[in-house]
Amino acid sequence: MKEKNQVREHWGGSLGFILAAAGSAIGLGNLWKFPYVTGQNGGGAFILVYLLAVLVIGFPVMVCEIAIGRNAQSDPITAFQKLCPKKTGSTHMTGVLLLLAACGLFCFGKFGMSGLFFLIALVIFWYGWAAVGILSVVTPFFILSFYGTVGGWTIAYFFKGLFQQLNFTDPDSAKQVFDTFVATPSHGIFFQLLFTLTTGSVIWFGIKNGIELASKFLMPVLLIFILILIMRSVTLPGANAGISYLLTPDFSQITPHVFLSALGQAFFSLSLGMGAIMTYGSYLDSEKNILSSSLFIIVADTFFALLAGLAIFPAVMAMGMEPSAGPGLVFQVMPATFNSIGDHLGWLWSSIFFFLIFIAALTSAISIAEGCVTCLIDHFKFRRKTAVFWTILLVSVSGIFCTLSVTNWDRLPFLQRGLVWAFGSTNASLFDLMDQFSSNYMLPLGGLGTSLFVGWQWGMRYALTELRKGGSDVTDVNFFALLAGLKDDPLSKGTHSLTLALILGILIRFISPICVILVFLYNIGWLSLK
Ligand code: PFF
Repeated sequence: MKEKNQVREHWGGSLGFILAAAGSAIGLGNLWKFPYVTGQNGGGAFILVYLLAVLVIGFPVMVCEIAIGRNAQSDPITAFQKLCPKKTGSTHMTGVLLLLAACGLFCFGKFGMSGLFFLIALVIFWYGWAAVGILSVVTPFFILSFYGTVGGWTIAYFFKGLFQQLNFTDPDSAKQVFDTFVATPSHGIFFQLLFTLTTGSVIWFGIKNGIELASKFLMPVLLIFILILIMRSVTLPGANAGISYLLTPDFSQITPHVFLSALGQAFFSLSLGMGAIMTYGSYLDSEKNILSSSLFIIVADTFFALLAGLAIFPAVMAMGMEPSAGPGLVFQVMPATFNSIGDHLGWLWSSIFFFLIFIAALTSAISIAEGCVTCLIDHFKFRRKTAVFWTILLVSVSGIFCTLSVTNWDRLPFLQRGLVWAFGSTNASLFDLMDQFSSNYMLPLGGLGTSLFVGWQWGMRYALTELRKGGSDVTDVNFFALLAGLKDDPLSKGTHSLTLALILGILIRFISPICVILVFLYNIGWLSLK
């Protein structure tokens, strides 16, 4: 099982890395979550706040992840250990606080939460800062389980579209078809396994021959398909209502809740907080420019989210459907919308649409699984194929439970009773719990750990040295000179001016951690904002 003296693979070129990382970011978060979260939070107003969150928090955290990964040239656990080999006072203090919290929760009868806090405290005592890296091995099992379920649905709906089984025109029939499909476990499990195995078959071939090759092929296909759908959607009579819904911000809709939803969405959408982007960064060589790559990735991800909005809202509104329909928007409202167009090509539009979501989900799932696989290879010295085998096997098993829990939670009485005993009464299925737990707790915690580590432990100075490799002297450019188009003017440069490096440092040390802590407190219900 052990593999020694393995030469580390690298991306063939910048484009390969950028496309793979953009593929990781562009996923169900853009095509499934973003449209309905936008629909529920007031359209254009939400988009504005989302853009702010991406710039102020997403960008710095992404830069940190890539810088750590590339500097250490290893998986996230080993990377934190390399950059901070000793246990520190701050990690001991966090461990002690968590132990106290665990005792308090135990006294209040919250045994599940107490056990969880106890376990996290032990991991922190044992691993120090590398506990943040442990998330890259644990989080994939949470995210990939429900991701596999939804990814499987997209494959099934693609075929249903092709075989003309989605020819309903009203949301009620759409709901009926969806509910019947979801309630049949053999279908759900079959397609979920198909999705997970497809993911495994790409990472089986490694970075260059697997992930990079697949991304170079799949990302252009994704762009072409979404452009085709947008052309169909915006040329429908009445599409203007959807376009202005997206592009006209109604500032009265901007509440603290909108701000926090945007922040959570930005984290999920940019694949931050679980070491996926850090892992991709570890396969990057020092000639590549981290800042420009990160900028490209966040622009591509945001652009795609907006394109998804443009493909969906004009069509939905032109057909008189409800834009704030929630998670069912994609699987129920969209096929009904396509069939209402009346060009008898509803089956084709639906197939294209679900194939598009399948590709987006696949390239993201690849990055989620690769985080775990790289940890098994670098830290636990597995061979790649063995690591892929175990990751995919375990994810498939947890995914089966997830899929079964959606078909009918009562099928898993032991699991259900166990969860209720541990965490109190919950109506949510395992699928919802996995989704909520990973998006609301694990990713923000991972992002917080990463920015605190870079800002306060490893040090901005070392992070900047990493960023300056690959010809990135843009960090030292005067920010205002850059805005004014005077970046090359010698008199506009100066050590005492506000450089991008300074801005980045302040964002990483203060702004991102504070915002993430706010989101976290909000998610655990300790901060309530009306
Ligand atoms: N960014 C992906 C999406 O938008 O669907 C989800 C994701 C991928 C989250 C990779 C986290 C991750 F590490």
